[in-house]
Amino acid sequence: MSDIHLERVIDLALKTPPSPDLVSGLPAAPASFCFTSLIDGLVEKRWFVAENYLPKALCNQLQQDLLLLHEQSLLSPAGIGRGKNHLLNEEVRGDYTHWLDGSSLAQQSYLALMRELKNTLNRELFLGLFEYECHYALYPAGAFYKKHVDSFRGQTNRKVTTVVYLNSAWQTKDAGEMRLYHPKTQQPLLDVAPRSGTLVCFMSEDLPHEVLPTNADRTSIAGWFRCNTSLNGRIDPAR
Ligand code: OGA
Ligand code: MN
Repeated sequence: MSDIHLERVIDLALKTPPSPDLVSGLPAAPASFCFTSLIDGLVEKRWFVAENYLPKALCNQLQQDLLLLHEQSLLSPAGIGRGKNHLLNEEVRGDYTHWLDGSSLAQQSYLALMRELKNTLNRELFLGLFEYECHYALYPAGAFYKKHVDSFRGQTNRKVTTVVYLNSAWQTKDAGEMRLYHPKTQQPLLDVAPRSGTLVCFMSEDLPHEVLPTNADRTSIAGWFRCNTSLNGRIDPAR
């Protein structure tokens, strides 16, 4: 693949303005993506949702990339916990995952967009984010991920969670919404339909959330911006 081609795809991914038609109840996205509303959302509420954040063409390429990996049996049942504490637990989550490594043009375009987002978060919020790790996830029909937080204060260095969805023909009957809970009251805040292009972004330590049982195969990319605080005298490696 030529560098020029790659540049064009990244260029397109960075510059295509998100379309403004939104499901009621979500903040209205401006004609070109407004980082101010994302920053304000994170500061005031600890979360932010934007429909049409990822260009449709890029969503389709990522979806194809994911399905190709699935055909090659390169997705693995997801676990919970890290390192020695890593456990498979189908009662908690039933998705299959594959960590992105930039090995396709689609992944490179996506990672370029996330670098842009990381730079904005660091510039505006001084979060000291230095790394981004993310995985494709496929939830087969019937799968869910029970209520959880992504990061426990002081135990990991995941600071900001991103989830983007790749499902281009999602219908209400397919269910599989991500439910966000209020950090303090623990009451349900919002159900987000996993429609292609939607970005959910929240502070990893603050927002409990869950994936409600899905009625159709459901695809996403879940990712975490990390800061490099060392834990137990060593820098916690990604993953
Ligand atoms: C996760 C997660 C949500 C989703 O992977 O930790 O909460 O909607 N994913 O895929
Ligand atoms: Mn999560």
